[in-house]
Amino acid sequence: MAEHLSQSELDYPFKLLEYFNGFRVSKVIFSACELGVFDLLTTSPCALSAQQVAQALHASVDGTERLLDALVGIEILHVETQAEDGTALYSSTEVAGMYLAKGGAKSLHDMAIYQSQTIYPLWNNMVDAVREGNNQNQKLFGIPPEEVFQAVYRSDEEMLKFMGLMNSSWVLDGYDVVMAFSLAGFRNIVDLGGCTGALAREIAKAYPSSSVTVFDMPAVVEMATKHFLRADDTFTFQSGDFFHGELPVADLYVLARILHDWSEDKCVTLLKRICDVCEPGGGGVLLVEATLLESRRGPVQAQLFSLSMLVQTEGRERPPSQYARMLRQSGFRDVQVCRTGKTYDAILALK
Ligand SMILES: C[S@@+](CC[C@H](N)C(=O)[O-])C[C@H]1O[C@@H](n2cnc3c(N)ncnc32)[C@H](O)[C@@H]1O
Repeated sequence: MAEHLSQSELDYPFKLLEYFNGFRVSKVIFSACELGVFDLLTTSPCALSAQQVAQALHASVDGTERLLDALVGIEILHVETQAEDGTALYSSTEVAGMYLAKGGAKSLHDMAIYQSQTIYPLWNNMVDAVREGNNQNQKLFGIPPEEVFQAVYRSDEEMLKFMGLMNSSWVLDGYDVVMAFSLAGFRNIVDLGGCTGALAREIAKAYPSSSVTVFDMPAVVEMATKHFLRADDTFTFQSGDFFHGELPVADLYVLARILHDWSEDKCVTLLKRICDVCEPGGGGVLLVEATLLESRRGPVQAQLFSLSMLVQTEGRERPPSQYARMLRQSGFRDVQVCRTGKTYDAILALK
């Protein structure tokens, strides 16, 4: 693929220029989410002019018009020009309605907000993070690099935004991840670091005869119960610290996007703690991560996530072989890997 790119790029670097513009495209979408463009257009009974959008969003007409045009350019909005006076009228595409509006069926609105307001500024520190090989939390927030969640949860507002990000992923990948292996034989499932319970909800839906518990830090459980729990949820919450406190007894422990936050030493410490309490002969652990290819050639999304882990945590994304090694070192066996073809993959191991 690399040879492919460089051949045609020598004549004119189309792809390279597209990459240069990548951050601008992201920021166009994020800004429109922050301003409420998609919420307005998806609920409007008719297409709207830039002036009408600007008025509704309390924004400048000129700025709004340029933003709407860029959204048309990247095929996120439709535009029609009125025959009588040439006024441009903007409307939502189905994709924008489903994924970018707050009330969309599979809304990624909260994901966009966290990327815009937290990840985007953090990526400004990429050069220093690469030079020094760790996150910049000490310099930015006065928090030691290893106190990852002190930094992520540095205010209630940041905690709620992060939880919104975590919550939104599983509307996309939750089903594939919980169906990657049959989990029907596991009666007691604990989602360690399960945050808002979004993945637990998918597990409980797919395996209604199993009991499902979300285990997370007390402040997170409190916030999850207040802002994310639904009346028909069947899973329960339990608070604690998976590195230092007692772990609940279960026959399946789910670790979704947990190991990618931590150094290899801490991953093995956590896996060993789980192995110690996991029911022998039939107990197991399910890892859910965006895994890298063993060849190092992708997926590019996981490679970008790994850089995000560098600027924000003490972990990284890893290929399945590295997860398998850590699992075996911690006492697990029979490691099976399922690539879902979406963002997140599943790895099941038994005690
Ligand atoms: C990257 S998030 C993943 C959340 C969730 N599993 C998901 O995939 O949506 C990491 C989670 O681990 C939790 N966590 C971090 N350290 C923890 C600890 N020591 N004990 C319990 N939970 C912890 C965080 O609060 C957060 O919910």
